[in-house]
Amino acid sequence: MTAVLEEVRPLEDFLVMPEEEVAAAIEAARQALGSRVVILGHHYQRDDVIRHADLTGDSYQLSVMASQTDAEYIVFCGVHFMAESADILGKPGQRVILPDMGAGCSMADMASIDQVEDAWEQLRDIGVLKNRVAPITYMNSTAAIKAFCGRNDGVVCTSSNAVPLFDAYLKEFDKMFFFPDQHLGRNTGAKFGIPLDKMVLWNPHEDLGGNTPEQLHEAKLILWRGHCSVHGRFKPWHVDKIRKDVPGVQVLVHPECTREVVEISDLNGSTSFIIKTVENAPAGTKWAIGTEVNLVNRLAQRFPDKEIHLLAPDLCMCATMYRIAPQNLAWAMDNLANDTVVNEIVVDEETRHYANIALERMIGMTEGKKG
Ligand code: 13P
Ligand code: SF4
Repeated sequence: MTAVLEEVRPLEDFLVMPEEEVAAAIEAARQALGSRVVILGHHYQRDDVIRHADLTGDSYQLSVMASQTDAEYIVFCGVHFMAESADILGKPGQRVILPDMGAGCSMADMASIDQVEDAWEQLRDIGVLKNRVAPITYMNSTAAIKAFCGRNDGVVCTSSNAVPLFDAYLKEFDKMFFFPDQHLGRNTGAKFGIPLDKMVLWNPHEDLGGNTPEQLHEAKLILWRGHCSVHGRFKPWHVDKIRKDVPGVQVLVHPECTREVVEISDLNGSTSFIIKTVENAPAGTKWAIGTEVNLVNRLAQRFPDKEIHLLAPDLCMCATMYRIAPQNLAWAMDNLANDTVVNEIVVDEETRHYANIALERMIGMTEGKKG
């Protein structure tokens, strides 16, 4: 339970502190809490926060790793949907803290549960659900949408396991409804040879998502009209330009990039795939990477023997994740050390139950198949 307001040390105390004092406050709280706390840092997090992380990783990995610790408090330096996933996957008694409640994900915010339920009812009304239709949601979605998928024979996927999950679902179902990232959905559908005219876009602000009943009956894949504002900034001209400017460069992008960018890149894959590819690349190789800037910059620092460029010259930063500054972390940690839990993320029991069904299905179907 969140403590009464009077007991909370205010964030303002930390906002006026010099940087070194902020860092010292985080470390002092960590010392006081010992193994009662684990700090998670997503790969896209800023350097001045990552340096305090006990564990770094992608969103799903971090939730799993935290649940394998005995920490009572999981401080998630990521975004809201990641903290919800950590709460769903956490052990009983583990409490999840998001140091800034404003750290959302613009993509996850593009699909609300009310819109998704309304879309499903519209599909039912025109008879599309008489076929076997599987709702599949990307990890980057609210817990409520994960639970919707759990209730309706659907599943959660990550950018690492979208391919094996599509493979399994395409064999068993007539159609898939994919939320909220149209690009991951389209890029994965294309890997299975689904023609573009069998992948229709669902605009939640229009009746039938802006489609005719015939289009929806004939579609193999219905894609929610959502996207990542960071990965959407990479354009085909960036690929052309870097190839001209850096002869021999290999273009490596995240599948949240548009189809046009993914199609002309050399390689595409999840955050973990991008990291592994660079780790395993021979010295002297040249890479232009289309993903979040903090990750790309850290890869460039870790591998000075490889030439690493950000694919776009402008700053492709996850601005919402950036909201978690060391000051927010210090505030959350200091309060925890004083037995005051601030910014707790709690998924209600029913949502957790059904979201877990969709997550368990994902784990069961992809064990040993992640790429
Ligand atoms: P990961 O699942 O690879 O952590 O990616 C999360 C994300 O937000 C990508 O934009
Ligand atoms: Fe969301 Fe994009 Fe940020 Fe990932 S990079 S958390 S998808 S806004």
